[in-house]
Amino acid sequence: MTKISFVFGTRPEAIKMAPVIIGAKKERGLTPLVLLTGQHREILDSVLDLFKIRPKINLGVMRKNQTLSELTARIIKKLNPVLEIEKPNIVLVQGDTTTALVGALLAFYHQIPVGHIEAGLRSFDKFQPFPEEINRCMISQIADLHFAPTKDAAKNLLTGGIKKDQIFIVGNTVIDAINLIAKKVNIFSKKELNKLNLGKIMVLITTHRRENIGPPMENICRAILKLIKFNPELIFVLPMHPNPKVRETLKKYLDNNPNVHLIEPLDYPDFVLMMKKSYFILTDSGGVQEEAPSLGKPVLVLRETTERKEGIKAGTAIMVGTNQNKIFDTATKLIKNPRTYKKISLVKNPYGDGKSSQRIIEIIKYYFSNKK
Ligand code: UD1
Ligand code: UDP
Repeated sequence: MTKISFVFGTRPEAIKMAPVIIGAKKERGLTPLVLLTGQHREILDSVLDLFKIRPKINLGVMRKNQTLSELTARIIKKLNPVLEIEKPNIVLVQGDTTTALVGALLAFYHQIPVGHIEAGLRSFDKFQPFPEEINRCMISQIADLHFAPTKDAAKNLLTGGIKKDQIFIVGNTVIDAINLIAKKVNIFSKKELNKLNLGKIMVLITTHRRENIGPPMENICRAILKLIKFNPELIFVLPMHPNPKVRETLKKYLDNNPNVHLIEPLDYPDFVLMMKKSYFILTDSGGVQEEAPSLGKPVLVLRETTERKEGIKAGTAIMVGTNQNKIFDTATKLIKNPRTYKKISLVKNPYGDGKSSQRIIEIIKYYFSNKK
């Protein structure tokens, strides 16, 4: 039996790991072991319930307003003895969070092979996104199996000196996840959401990135206010990330505005339905940039640079940064120009085909069959 451990702790990791865990559970020769750091709490728990993921352990490391150093230290201290006891044959980490970096590092210390899901994304800017760009570069130095979502990601790994036979282009598992959910959702699970006035044109917004906290997020809010001023028919739905610093800014600018629904984070199926109901999406999220094209929704990316360049190239996303006027002008074009809108909404999703998890499992099985 191959003991395959999934180390994760945040909402996006859970969503992107879930299809791989579900697949691994069905495999005879694999024993999946879910080890949670608990870097996130409420917004992680709802994903575990949704996909019926039962962790062996949850280290519960989250604290209010945690700093990167404290978080890193807590995960090292608490995860280390777990790996010592469990001795998995492989540790899988996903993406670029603190949990993913520490999971990979500790596996290396115990000389356990590491598989990196969503490997090879690069913005080539040390501080954007911060600290994720450097987290994923460091994970690439450690990993033995690199599961790249796209050709471009694989190219980045090759350029970075990773051996070709360790890189596998598999697509992004988030497409597997959204495919599992999107067809099933047509009413919100929470009653109050079904009562929300979504108007004729609803724009969905999410923002949480560390580098956007402060003046950039204030600019995003000002852009929303300006859009409302010139288009009073617009309705904005903004599920707020639980980070207190994010909430403070959003509430300061947008609370009690009749055109803005500032709401609690949505459970994944409700969020997918909200994406479906939106006209377009404003976001600094990584995952949302990848999911939106599956639903034919244009994305305006609230970042100065993105590692998800495939969407920009394919035309599913437009980078608008955090400049108030750029956001306003680009959103206005989308609203006023149905032909531009239609063109964007018909582009095929460049991030995957929904079969990534199965590919990852086959590769892991093959890796261990060669080792015997
Ligand atoms: C983390 C990841 C980021 C990812 C994001 C997804 C790192 C460095 N960053 O950032 O890459 O995009 O998750 O959402 O790993 N909080 C709660 N409840 C929760 C979750 C968070 O109250 O369920 C609050 C806490 O006060 C916490 C703060 O949010 O201290 C920040 O959480 P943290 O995981 O440190 O950073 P994120 O911004 O969520
Ligand atoms: N998401 C969700 N509820 C929300 C906001 C986002 O379920 O209220 C999902 C979204 O569909 C995507 C993931 O969470 O799959 C993205 O998480 P986030 O934006 O927090 O992190 P990132 O992808 O930027 O790391």
